[in-house]
Amino acid sequence: MTTPVRDALPDGVPALTGDVLAIRGGRPLRGRVDVKGAKNLATKAMVASLLGETVSTLRDVPAISDVAVVRSLLEVHGVRVSEGDEPGALVFDPSDVESAHFEEIDAHAGASRIPILFCGPLLHRLGQAFIPDLGGCRIGDRPIDFHLDALRKFGAVVEKLPSGIRLSTPNGRLHGANIHLPYPSVGATEQVLLTAVRAEGVTELRNAAIEPEIMDLIAVLQKMGAIISYEPNRVIVIEGVEKLRGYDHRSIFDRNEAASWASAALATDGEIFVGGAKQQEMLTFLNVFRKAGGWFDIQEDGILFRREGELRPVVVETDVHPGFMTDWQQPLVVALAKAKGISIVHETVYEQRFGFTEALVDMGATIQIHTECLGSHACRFGQRNYQHSAVIAGPVSLHGADIVVPDLRGGFSHLVAALTAEGESRISNVGIIARGYERFIEKLQVLGADFDVDG
Ligand code: EPU
Repeated sequence: MTTPVRDALPDGVPALTGDVLAIRGGRPLRGRVDVKGAKNLATKAMVASLLGETVSTLRDVPAISDVAVVRSLLEVHGVRVSEGDEPGALVFDPSDVESAHFEEIDAHAGASRIPILFCGPLLHRLGQAFIPDLGGCRIGDRPIDFHLDALRKFGAVVEKLPSGIRLSTPNGRLHGANIHLPYPSVGATEQVLLTAVRAEGVTELRNAAIEPEIMDLIAVLQKMGAIISYEPNRVIVIEGVEKLRGYDHRSIFDRNEAASWASAALATDGEIFVGGAKQQEMLTFLNVFRKAGGWFDIQEDGILFRREGELRPVVVETDVHPGFMTDWQQPLVVALAKAKGISIVHETVYEQRFGFTEALVDMGATIQIHTECLGSHACRFGQRNYQHSAVIAGPVSLHGADIVVPDLRGGFSHLVAALTAEGESRISNVGIIARGYERFIEKLQVLGADFDVDG
């Protein structure tokens, strides 16, 4: 029995696809919100459960629709998913993993990119896998060439079909490989980890991503019995083992959600305590937040964020860890639009991640997007006509507008913009925000935002 995505959301959190938020701006957000497990770890740890021979328990799983998509996909493949022994815990029983039909996989893949990570585990379990055309946020091309190249190196045969990609292992077990990623891709690193742990022999991965969520996935895999060493200079070495068992793991917190609420406090001149946020994984964000006029207090169970004095312009370059995350820039841009002076954001991870600024310009922001690298170093997108540097001139006062949310982080920045704007904004397609922000409507209510949901 599989669970439809809408109903699979823990506690029946609605998918919100058809809803419009009518937000009246001007009220500072004040209060406490708690962040749970990271979207970008929880969904991967769920996939890892496929590799074990016994049940796995993941704790602090966020109630977001990306989790619902992965849960449905696991169930389609025969994994039994049930509630655990505490709120937010999910238990995965992979004892009856089986291959699924194309149509079923397609119907449950939703708009997520996670299905690509099912490849290695399914190849180990079943000798074959089918991956439908991938969704995910429209923030550039988002190719999967690194994933497919790596899988071929492990010995998988990759066939491209009109409906997706079929993979098989005609020569039996996958074998270890030497892989050098052209760019430290988070997804491709996870692909290699999830495949190498049960491949025959040793895998050496160079130019790996080292985001905290990757380190947490390594911790999950080690609990399962994997042998993975992390060496200097982005090198990860994995010694394949024959069998893995289940895990019991509490997910790392969602630092992207924490940073989003911090920027909301900054832009609305409010004060938000983000329960569950930790300093270590947010060091780079906190530096930029402080330079932009933010104040924070690190406490045992979370971080308190507010503005201190005037907003200030900053120059930021997004980058792989330990740089400033690409997912942090969008809500921050709203505060920068209100800061006196010129700010620059050079996006070096995705080539098209400024689509969300069009709505901010409609609301009165002065933002120009350039194809040049306006940062301290040239990135992969320079000289290639990608609109990947933003110049933000402030201060401006924003006014309400009708907005269709384009992507997850852009959508959150639109919420923040509407909360600071004069008059009413009507924001549609907010279901995208539910992909990565747990119970954001309830949280907005708790923080005192003035809005209605027109369903
Ligand atoms: N890339 C390729 N080929 C590939 C894979 C990636 O060219 O085969 C390129 C991408 O096009 C991009 C860059 O490499 O320009 C980085 O992509 P990466 O693979 O690191 O990203 P991802 O794994 O698809 C995850 C998060 C993103 C987050 C990025 C960067 C998940 C589900 N998604 O994406 O999160 O922005 O890492 O940290 O973990 C979000 O949460 O809103 C989100 C988009």
